[in-house]
This record gives sequence, C-alpha cells and structure tokens, in this order.
Amino acid sequence: MTPTTRPTPERALDWTPAEARALGDEALDIWVELLERLRDDLPVARNRSAAQVSEAVGLEIPSQPMPLDDLAAYLRRVVFDESMYPGHPGFVAYISGAGTVPGAAADLIAAGLNQNTGGWRLSPAASEIEQHLIRWFAARLGMPMSSSGYITTGGAMVNFIALALARTHHAGWDVRADGMLAGPQLSVYVSSEVHDTVDRAAQMLGLGDAGIRHIHTDGELRMEVDALRAAIEQDLAAGIRPIAVVGSAGTTGTGAIDPLDAIADVCTEYGLWFHVDGAYGGAAALTDALRHLFTGIERADSVGFDPHKWLYTPMAGACLLVRDQTLLEEAFAVHATYIVDDDEHTGWGADVYTLSPHFSRSFAALKIWVSLLAHGWDAYERRITHDVALARYLHDAVVAHPELEAIAAPGLSITCFRFVPPDLAGRVEADRYLDELNERLMFDLQLGGRVFPSNAIVGGRFALRSCIVNFRTEADTMDELISETLRLGRGLDAELRPEVLP
Ligand SMILES: Cc1ncc(COP(=O)(O)O)c(C=O)c1O
Repeated sequence: MTPTTRPTPERALDWTPAEARALGDEALDIWVELLERLRDDLPVARNRSAAQVSEAVGLEIPSQPMPLDDLAAYLRRVVFDESMYPGHPGFVAYISGAGTVPGAAADLIAAGLNQNTGGWRLSPAASEIEQHLIRWFAARLGMPMSSSGYITTGGAMVNFIALALARTHHAGWDVRADGMLAGPQLSVYVSSEVHDTVDRAAQMLGLGDAGIRHIHTDGELRMEVDALRAAIEQDLAAGIRPIAVVGSAGTTGTGAIDPLDAIADVCTEYGLWFHVDGAYGGAAALTDALRHLFTGIERADSVGFDPHKWLYTPMAGACLLVRDQTLLEEAFAVHATYIVDDDEHTGWGADVYTLSPHFSRSFAALKIWVSLLAHGWDAYERRITHDVALARYLHDAVVAHPELEAIAAPGLSITCFRFVPPDLAGRVEADRYLDELNERLMFDLQLGGRVFPSNAIVGGRFALRSCIVNFRTEADTMDELISETLRLGRGLDAELRPEVLP
C-alpha cells in the first residue's frame, strides 16, 4: 500500500495579526462613525421594505476573498444605509437597550478569545467572571449567597428554564424519566399582563395552554392575590396540580409590578415555585432608589432580568438567578461520555452545560461585566432613575395637552398615551376609530425617522407607548415625541376620519 501523502498546510482561514488589524481598523472606523452620527444625521429607522433591504444586503457568497476595501464598503452600507438604531436618542420602543459602548468593545474581545462557557475547562476566567456577576446581582437583590445562575440568551429563555425547574421540582413525579403523561395536569399562575413567552414556555414544556391560569389584575394592572388563591383552590379541587406562580416585576405593557411579597406568601403556603419575571424591571430592583418597589423579589426561587434591556448592554444577555444550584443540576444534568471530570485532581469549577438547557455557550457575561467596571454602578443608579423621571415628564406633558390622553399611570420608564382629536374626547363610539388612528400613527412615527415608539393594548385600547432603556434619550426626545404625535396625528385624522366616522 502506498503511504498517504503528507498534507501540506492550508492557511487561507488563518489570518495574520496584520490582516486582523486591517479589518479591525475598518470595523473600528465604522463603529466610531456610528457613534458620531447617532445624534446627528442618522434617522432612528428607515422607510425601506424587506425586498429593498434584501436586495441591498443579499450578496452572492464569492468563491474568492472579497477585497478588504469592498468588504469595508459593504459593511458601511449595512450599517449606515440599511439598519435601524436602538441607540438613537429617538428610540423608545419595546424594551431594547441602547447598547453600552464598553459592552460593544468587550464583545469583540469575547469573540476574539472565543471561550466556550458551557464547560469550565474551556473558559476558566470567563466562567469565574460570570459567577462573580451572578453573585453580585443576587446580593443586590437580597437573594441568599447560595444563589446560582448564569447568563442566557433572553427573558424568553429565562422563563422557559424557570418553568422547567418548577416542573422538575413540583410535579410530584420524575418528569425527566417518565414524561408528562405519568401524572395529572400541572398548572402555572400568571397575571393577565404576563409576557407571552411564559405562555409559550408552558406550551413547550407540555403543560399547554390548559395549564396556564391568567389571573385578573387590579386597577394598576397588578395581579390580584385573592383571585390567585381562588384559582389555586379551584384547580386543587379539580385534581389539577399547581406548580408555580410567575410574578411580573415590570410588565411589558405598562411597567406594572405584581405584589411580589404577597405572591411569595401564597407560594410558601401552597408549596409552589415562585418565579419573578424581571426581564424589564429587574434592573431597577438592583438600585437603591427603586428597590422598595420590588419587596418580595428576594424570596423568589428564581428571578430573571435582562441586562440587554435596562442595563443597556448589547444584545444578547439575560440573567437567570436561582436560590440553589442543586435545583439546576436536578433539572438539567446530563452525562456525556466524552466529557469526564476529576475536580479533586484538576480543581476546575462547575460546567454550565450541566446546569442549563444550553451546551456550547458564548462569553456573553463579558459585555455586562466590562460595562459595569467601565461605568461604575453609580452611573447606572443615576441613569435608571433618570429614565423613570423622563417617563414621568412625558406623562405630565400628555396630561397637560388637550389632544393627548394618558392611557395608564407611568410605570417605571414606560408611558402610555394616545392622540385624541378634541371633538372626539369622551365619545365612546369613537373608541374603535381612535384605536385605528393611533395604530396608523405609531407606524407613521416609526417610519418617520425622528422618534420610534411602540404600542401597548391597555384595557382593550390601543396606546402609543414610550419605554426608555436608552441612555441617549433626554427630555428633548420626549418633547419631539409629543410634537411629532400631534403633527402626524392631526394629518392622519384629517385623512382617515371621513372614511370611518361622520
Ligand atoms: C416582561 C418580559 N419578559 C420576557 C421578555 C422576553 O425577553 P427577551 O426578549 O429578552 O427574550 C420580555 C421582552 O420584552 C419582557 O418584557
């Protein structure tokens, strides 16, 4: 048999440090220009269709390397011509953080270092940094020092993991071994304002919509604890097994905070898992100024909050905190034969792949950690409370204007309002038209490029919604949101009203 020819090196993918610097310099130039232009000439968003954007960005993959100049020019077009900007001062929609500058720099280092934080041995410093972060968050929330957790992709994943934990620990049988058919229907209790990802988590975990109870809210859109108790009792009487209550610490629509302490009492009384979805508001619970609004959060079995929302860090990184690491192990441990441990011999730490539904993971903690180090916590305290003050400022301006109506009290950094032509104020029969008018208005504001609000449905009514998790937004954006709402709202009313209302 002829011996196999010794393969010669193939180095095309192995760029030299000089090549790295050349592309890195281009990337740095684009990023710095983006920061310069965010406040100047860039719109918050563009009026471009999916087809137009697709045509502009969808290149053929070349078989040969794209010249650096072409690649840089292409990236400039992606960034400056075909994107929208959550870091623009006018972006006040949904709950998408502006993206910290130190966080973006940290992301480059994290990607360059390329740690796999699923396993401690593949990410020693990264794993320990992540655990420092988790312990610091837990301590600020008043959770026990035994608390554990990790950074995951988002609030949706946190809610899924939390309900998986609840199912493992409170189903009453071994769900991991025996599946969902081995016991009765399980149920989870949430407010009617809960984020849809909780419902979806219940569906994915086999509880189905049949296992979700949406509990009534009070006038401030907070879960009614008496109704919660009644729903639990009713399920118990029907042979359904309650496993968890999810309290919202800042609802997506209006920023309402459920009565967490009272819910914790109910969970203790009935032996249920208590999860707090603080994807949005959880960051405020870390502050000295606002923590009092979240009393009871420290009693939760699990808490989620999203640094990529109100700690402003770049996408994506959400934090899951759990009172006790063994609970995570029981729910998620797997034993891959190709990974063996000898902690006594090696002194290595815990592997997150055994504590989570993830396996390979990125070093997402670095952008959060570096942002906190670079800014210091006081800057966060000041900015988070500033966002709340801006929401209050906008609310007061709405209340003072005859063509605007406040749709809910301001909650955390959220303000909900709508445009109401004065002659339609108080006319119940105009409600549907006002919903349609404000929906069109929201799209026109978003396409207009100056300010970018989103919406909430509050009490069945369509509201424009401003949510500030953006450290570039100031009072002048609030003023502009109002002036643009009035300008576009008046024009739209003149255009639409004759078709709908006499
Ligand atoms: C209260 C709440 N929970 C969960 C989520 C989902 O979080 P993510 O988008 O980070 O997955 C959101 C998103 O806005 C939210 O507001």
